[in-house]
Amino acid sequence: MRVHFIGAGPGAPDLLTLRGRDLIAASPVCLYAGSLVPEAVLEHCPDGARVVNTAPMDLDAIMTEIAAAHARGEDVARLHSGDLSVWSAMGEQIRRLDALGIPYTVTPGVPSFAAAAASLGAELTLPEVAQSVVLTRTPGRASSMPESESLAAFAATGATLAIHLSVQNLASVVGTLVPHYGPDCPAAVVFRASWPDEEVIRAPLSGLAEAVGPEITRTALILVGRALGATGFAESRLYAAGYDRRYRPQSAGSIWSGWKDDTGPAGGAA
Ligand SMILES: C[S@@+](CC[C@H](N)C(=O)[O-])C[C@H]1O[C@@H](n2cnc3c(N)ncnc32)[C@H](O)[C@@H]1O
Repeated sequence: MRVHFIGAGPGAPDLLTLRGRDLIAASPVCLYAGSLVPEAVLEHCPDGARVVNTAPMDLDAIMTEIAAAHARGEDVARLHSGDLSVWSAMGEQIRRLDALGIPYTVTPGVPSFAAAAASLGAELTLPEVAQSVVLTRTPGRASSMPESESLAAFAATGATLAIHLSVQNLASVVGTLVPHYGPDCPAAVVFRASWPDEEVIRAPLSGLAEAVGPEITRTALILVGRALGATGFAESRLYAAGYDRRYRPQSAGSIWSGWKDDTGPAGGAA
């Protein structure tokens, strides 16, 4: 018996991975975080599966479900929205499983920041504009922030920001960011990326709070950064004509000439 943690993706049922789908189909028990995991994903559960929405449960109750499945020898598909590596509460469940000696696997999912970037048709890292993406949030009722991880500290880097769990604080987020990014910096809010009722709101940073209606209070990402609207950026060296690289050696004397996957480049350079 194993518990399969599965990233269910941002919302569209066809953004579930094939591995995730197959594990759901093979597990007699499915525990899903009902607030964000789409019902259509549950259609992969086998007939007769025990399917439990964990949204109203506390951690002890969730562990009781898992321990009962363990006692019956039944695999559990444990679904969380997006990917499991950020804001999934997987860490605390794994710690309990380790203590109980219950084995588990982890299957990644499409994170909401990637779905939101896709909705914007944007690459978040552009040459010489931004080469880092900060996945962050502002403090909430249930979660404080480590002191060194303030929004202002991240803003000082100029990186592209993907701010989760914070649309209800939008005016304050904008107020913090304008001094660092400038009022004209491209910004967007993507509500329910990849869901049928998705909304994409683009605005210069200083106008973002006014552009987003009061009805958007959750399940939205705030994206801010010069990369979002840039058009005059440099092209990457990777595809530049004349760039000497492993897959396109430029001369017979190139360190990459005669390179094969299993041998490495001539002269040993990486
Ligand atoms: C508890 S976190 C879960 C994050 C998730 N593990 C992930 O990989 O994106 C929930 C927050 O993620 C963001 N989020 C999740 N799904 C979203 C979606 N489809 N569109 C926009 N934002 C989403 C929102 O900021 C929401 O408040």
